[in-house]
Amino acid sequence: MGPQGELMMLSTNGKVILLGEHAVVYGRPALAMSFSPGLTLVSQEEGEGALRVIVPAWQLEQSEADFTPVGEALRLARKLLPFCGGLTLSIDAHIPIGAGLGSSASLGLLVVRALARQGGHRLSRAQEREYTHEIEKVFHRDPSGLDDTVITFGGLCLFCRSGWNERPSAWESLEAITPQALRVPCALPTFVIADSRVPHSTQAMVAGLRHRYQLDPPWVEARIEAISRCVERAVAALDLADHAVLASAMQENHRLLVDLELSHPILEQMISVAMASGALAAKLTGGGGGGCIIALVSGDGAPIVGALNDAGYRAWLVNPQQAIY
Ligand code: MEV
Repeated sequence: MGPQGELMMLSTNGKVILLGEHAVVYGRPALAMSFSPGLTLVSQEEGEGALRVIVPAWQLEQSEADFTPVGEALRLARKLLPFCGGLTLSIDAHIPIGAGLGSSASLGLLVVRALARQGGHRLSRAQEREYTHEIEKVFHRDPSGLDDTVITFGGLCLFCRSGWNERPSAWESLEAITPQALRVPCALPTFVIADSRVPHSTQAMVAGLRHRYQLDPPWVEARIEAISRCVERAVAALDLADHAVLASAMQENHRLLVDLELSHPILEQMISVAMASGALAAKLTGGGGGGCIIALVSGDGAPIVGALNDAGYRAWLVNPQQAIY
């Protein structure tokens, strides 16, 4: 058994939704960006045994022999990318697990890339995404594909789960990187992400909204439609580097998510802290009911990170320009 020297370094992005979460489940576009670092493979050891992942920051150590979602994901990964023998992957996590930042897709992609290298499989970006999407299905029964797409391709993407048969005319010229994702080329402002550490289940939040939808479709539909207008305003604002309009679109998107009962008192407190320390906008990101917020900042964002950390949350600056393409 021995480490593989210079072959070791592999990294995958995290992802954060800027606008459009939940509306994306109902066929509307969401705007999401990758950031790095997400996960980094720090070492790998070959051996006789099983395929195993060790992620100390997540207190996770599991192998394909485990009857857990991670174990099942590893068994599937080996089936998709066959290789001989055992392999232990030791991974540094720079993103929290289960907080809406794409931890499972980031792990899935890292395993795909490590196994492809181990088995001598040459994968295109599209194949990497496809395999990662298959692994995502183990963790989230019916994933929209947003996480695996944004994490694999990197950068800022508009994602629509049903594809782009009818694009708004303003988006006609955007490059389609998959049938569901359009690349949005623009210089991104600085964002702060903060983790509430409140455990949440995206599946439960999605199911809760689905229930609400069944009770009163027009009421929910109106809000979903309004969220999709926020996404359109945000894309236009990014194109013009108009951060005031971007901020108002994010604020409006958050108000609509609150209306849909997708926030949480702790997220509201975090948003107040971010706004009081100078953020231009702050909203929940991902499933809501816990998890993370994202704040748009002007300047270097240090006072906002400091205020959120002082208040007991875990906040950090995101530099999307560092995302791995
Ligand atoms: C979760 O990160 C985003 C949701 O829109 C769910 C999904 O897209 O599958 C809430």
